Amino acid sequence: MAGKDPGTAGAGNQFSTPVPRRRVVEALLGSGFLATAVAFFYPVLRYLVPPQESDLGGDSVVAGRVGELKPNSGKIFRFGQHPGLLIRTASGEYRAMSATCTHLSCTVQYRDDLHEVWCACHNGMYDLNGRNVSGPPPRPLESFEVQVRGEEIYVRRRREA
Ligand code: FES
Repeated sequence: MAGKDPGTAGAGNQFSTPVPRRRVVEALLGSGFLATAVAFFYPVLRYLVPPQESDLGGDSVVAGRVGELKPNSGKIFRFGQHPGLLIRTASGEYRAMSATCTHLSCTVQYRDDLHEVWCACHNGMYDLNGRNVSGPPPRPLESFEVQVRGEEIYVRRRREA
């Protein structure tokens, strides 16, 4: 090792450029710092800028699968930015409607004991077609069309005639 510059690496023949070890170490430390900064800020950025909502064109979603709901039960599903309510009636029919109460926008739920849709916030009631039947809700819930295609239950907004 006598005669070699300790601050260089790869000092070889006359065609190669010696790379100082200090630069290599600085580059490694710099890339490590950059990776740490990206690992820290990326989740923060993803939180502040949420991804675009995917809701199959805003008109139709898969609300559930056949066999998922037993008769006389319901489930909340996501319809774009809002909740929807899928109900399987006691006779096995599917119904779907918005799950946003028309009073003050609480999320409604299916009550299997009453066979109605209930809003817990102020005891509002809707029938299985979404019509407001008692309590403070001023309007019916928006009702949706239901189609069973294969194993999937699709819900879509009703088209105006
Ligand atoms: S928000 Fe539903 S009854 Fe008031």
